[in-house]
Amino acid sequence: MKTEILRMLRNSEEYVSGQELSEKLGISRTAVWKNIRSLKEEGYQIEAVQNRGYRILKIPDSIRPSEIKSRLGGSRMGCEIYYIEETSSTNIWAKRLGDEGAPSGTLAIAQQQTQGRGRRGRQWLSFEGDNIYMSLLLRPDIHPEKAPMLTLVMGLSVAQGINRELGVKTGIKWPNDVILGNKKAAGILTEMSTQSDYIEYLVIGVGINCNSVKFSEELSPTATSLAAETGETVSRAQIVAAILRCFEENYEKYIAAGDLSDLLDEYNENLVHRDQEIRILEAGREYTGTARGIDAEGHLLVETADQKTVKVFTGEVSVRGMQGYVN
Ligand code: BTN
Repeated sequence: MKTEILRMLRNSEEYVSGQELSEKLGISRTAVWKNIRSLKEEGYQIEAVQNRGYRILKIPDSIRPSEIKSRLGGSRMGCEIYYIEETSSTNIWAKRLGDEGAPSGTLAIAQQQTQGRGRRGRQWLSFEGDNIYMSLLLRPDIHPEKAPMLTLVMGLSVAQGINRELGVKTGIKWPNDVILGNKKAAGILTEMSTQSDYIEYLVIGVGINCNSVKFSEELSPTATSLAAETGETVSRAQIVAAILRCFEENYEKYIAAGDLSDLLDEYNENLVHRDQEIRILEAGREYTGTARGIDAEGHLLVETADQKTVKVFTGEVSVRGMQGYVN
């Protein structure tokens, strides 16, 4: 109900009367008032004027389900949203929800993680400041071999969502780091539960540096945040909702085609290394070449010095610029 109240108050420039809220939502005036009180406790500034009604004055940077859902409409992604202040890792939490039978499209989101996980066995730290740590549970009817492509679908959606909402130029460092101003602003980690040759469920974890502006000495040369790049505090719910909407659209295209063919152009337009010289770091070997873009299976196509095109597979591999992380 809070979701509906928020949507109505945010979409109106005028006061919305208790009567109108109660009639449209089919609840009593007392129930309206109780929901308003609960929203105020969550940090919303809501003005109540006799004979006129309610008006929202300030929306906190909340990532609670009601705030995210009020920005989603009927999206299947985020059909159920679970929020917690602190958890070990939203990927672990979402997998537990998967084991318990939660539907495809369920989102688990937390204010902080104590054991955030990154790609290639690394940690994903929770910095001081308000960031996004979320995991989307999916039950796609695809072969497990195709699952890594979904990480790329999410990478594209994160880049698009941020770009659409904030108007900043975003890029993707293959396979799925989202880049702002040559530094990493977001990372993605997909984990799945398979039964022989089908996927029981899959969890796509997304970490976005939003409102942190200070990073450790080790990370500051390569890490940035949305606030650091825009110079403004960002609304995390706005970003989360935009990403879920983009992902829903991209996911449908991916499922319909069975591969990335309908997303190729957009992905490649965002690729920070397109037509640039890169280093490919694999277990025990490193080589260089020119990145030409991805193919419909999500491999990175790299042209080597002897004019051969190598397909680089996602997994235990890293891509770097010739001097540093991007360039
Ligand atoms: C990377 O190494 O770039 C991937 C980072 C993924 C971090 C996110 S934060 C939400 C989810 N929970 C985790 O433990 N990891 C992912």
